[in-house]
Amino acid sequence: MAELTTNNLLPVGCVMAAEVRPDNKALIKFQFTQDKTCPTFFRIRSGEMDGTFSFHPKNPQFSKGRSKMPLLEACNLTQTYTVEDRQITILKDVSLSVSPGEFVVIEGNSGSGKTTLLTLLSGLDRPTSGRIFIGEREITHLNEDEMAPLRNTAFGFVFQSFHLVPSLNAVENIMFPAELAGDGHAGEKAERLLARVGLLARRHHFPHQLSGGEKQRVAICRALINAPDIIFADEPTGNLDTENSGAILDLLIDLRKERGSTLILVTHSAEIARKADRRLTLRDGEMEKR
Ligand SMILES: Nc1ncnc2c1ncn2[C@@H]1O[C@H](COP(=O)(O)OP(=O)(O)OP(=O)(O)O)[C@@H](O)[C@H]1O
Ligand SMILES: [Mg+2]
Repeated sequence: MAELTTNNLLPVGCVMAAEVRPDNKALIKFQFTQDKTCPTFFRIRSGEMDGTFSFHPKNPQFSKGRSKMPLLEACNLTQTYTVEDRQITILKDVSLSVSPGEFVVIEGNSGSGKTTLLTLLSGLDRPTSGRIFIGEREITHLNEDEMAPLRNTAFGFVFQSFHLVPSLNAVENIMFPAELAGDGHAGEKAERLLARVGLLARRHHFPHQLSGGEKQRVAICRALINAPDIIFADEPTGNLDTENSGAILDLLIDLRKERGSTLILVTHSAEIARKADRRLTLRDGEMEKR
């Protein structure tokens, strides 16, 4: 029986032992103490165990015999606003865990809290309570200076109303996040992305000279230029006609697949939601159990 150090697992307090079998597989027996504020907060720190072990107990995260640390984890998020001296709770105790490369759709009626949840997960706003982790790093209390580089390089955003800079043309809008990150190849990368979405001929057009669908394709390129780990997309085709919507969402899904980015997408399209690895539904600020 080979001993493994508890350093391989968080939180400390788990008891581990590994029995190596003749076929070079190993059976790992472990117990872990769950973090009380975050039920799913246990994780393997390194990828050294990939494909080498079978795990017990049979936990979905471990059952494929690989360590799969969540890329994003939100624990017990609550968001409360004060409006005219009244407190209204928009999100209630929402927890979720997203794996690297996963495509997750968030569904729910208007006002159910989808946009609010995305703004918290992406660090654009802070929760009233709860915790958010990107990999092992807790981002809940990062200040703006600490959050900005992470948001600029690890995250990509696609919004319903595009949010392009009106005074920059298509290629300049796409280059913008890469230039902020000090990328000397921002121009070439932007042009390559524009070609990929069929808009190279429009590269010098300003936003007011582009159609809605073209603007959204530019916005998708901008979200992808820094090869982000996670793309947050909030009803990116809410302002487009059905035909255009399907094509744009398919493009976003294809591009994120090519790059291995995780995609968290808010959409009302059941057709697109069916393509997701996982569908989550918010109902009145609470995550519906499936
Ligand atoms: N800053 C705020 N102050 C007070 N209430 C807010 C604030 N932001 C959002 N809300 C309220 O929170 C609720 C959820 O809003 P949110 O924008 O997250 O909904 P949504 O699910 O994205 O809806 P939609 O599908 O219409 O975009 C709404 O009732 C909204 O009025
Ligand atoms: Mg919304």
